[in-house]
Amino acid sequence: MVLSADAPANIEAAALRLAAGSLVGLPTETVYGLAADAGNASAVQRVFEAKGRPGDHPLIVHVAPSATADAEGWRAAVAPFAREVPEFAVALMQAFWPGPLTLILPRRPEVAAVAAGGQDSVGLRCPSHPAALALLQAARAHGVMGVAAPSANRFGRVSPTTAAHVAEEFAALSDAALLILDGGACPVGIESTIVDCSRGAPVLLRPGMLTPAQIEAACGQPLRERDEQAPRASGTLASHYAPRAAVRLMPAPQLQAALDLMGKDAKNIAVYASKGVRVDGALPRRRMPEMAADCAQELFAVLRELDATGVRLIWVETPPVGPDWDGVRDRLERAAA
Ligand code: TXA
Ligand code: MG
Repeated sequence: MVLSADAPANIEAAALRLAAGSLVGLPTETVYGLAADAGNASAVQRVFEAKGRPGDHPLIVHVAPSATADAEGWRAAVAPFAREVPEFAVALMQAFWPGPLTLILPRRPEVAAVAAGGQDSVGLRCPSHPAALALLQAARAHGVMGVAAPSANRFGRVSPTTAAHVAEEFAALSDAALLILDGGACPVGIESTIVDCSRGAPVLLRPGMLTPAQIEAACGQPLRERDEQAPRASGTLASHYAPRAAVRLMPAPQLQAALDLMGKDAKNIAVYASKGVRVDGALPRRRMPEMAADCAQELFAVLRELDATGVRLIWVETPPVGPDWDGVRDRLERAAA
């Protein structure tokens, strides 16, 4: 069942669903989440089952903002879940929360063990989408201290950026099992940047739309290189975000040469490339925007749309080099793996 997130009555209905241990399709500024009360082990278990996600892959716990938005307020917002919060993590919250940033922090051993996939850390994020903020606040009033939500796609598949995508992914769930809040198309479009703050120095675990330079400036120290001990993140598995069609990434000249070579024989191919690439009018084609933020916003919807044409191959132009494109390039490389 899809309900508009604009009606306060629907937010309240969704909050009651969460409090009762049922699942909610949650709009956020990054992608839609499949949400459950982080403190309810069996509800969280149903999220893993619905996604087909292995139980040792931790979920992000979403928290409502502090009333004050100062350092003390943010410490209080994460206190129910985080055992210990370093100064640089508080600085990151102050700079980017509510927003598309997830922080990995040492977990209080008595909370959210199932959501955290049994790890001794927990991923926390305060999202900025107004519907998410309203739902988190309403749910808290019903005793839900945090909302565990992975992206609302089946494991390994393309993340959803509209309520219709979520309905498509979980068509098998009944209206009683899943209420989807429609908050429109997600404005950021790719998942949050993840920074590990559980081991002394900040480490980038998943690139997103916040650049390393922005993160370093906000926390006043350099990001440490990832090493063997860095926590594993499922969104960082080599193959992920995969449509049914095979995705292939090629630089523009190579893509153009391949298309020219195929000529009129090109079939079963869809193309996502910048305006410089000439494509035979018969092929499904979407034009890749010049700005990284615009490309991120539409990326998953474009992959879904091209996939739905039934092609066997999606040829994508390799995005430009540069930190603002890191998140998009990361998702495309995994879709192609
Ligand atoms: O933008 C987002 O982050 C979206 C929206 C819904 O908030 N959520 C999202 O969730 O992308 P998911 O489950 O698809 O990806 C969460 C990532 C996974 O790669 C997971 O391994 C990592 O966060 N993660 C969560 N908790 C962790 C922990 N304690 N240690 C290491 N990685 C963790
Ligand atoms: Mg995901």
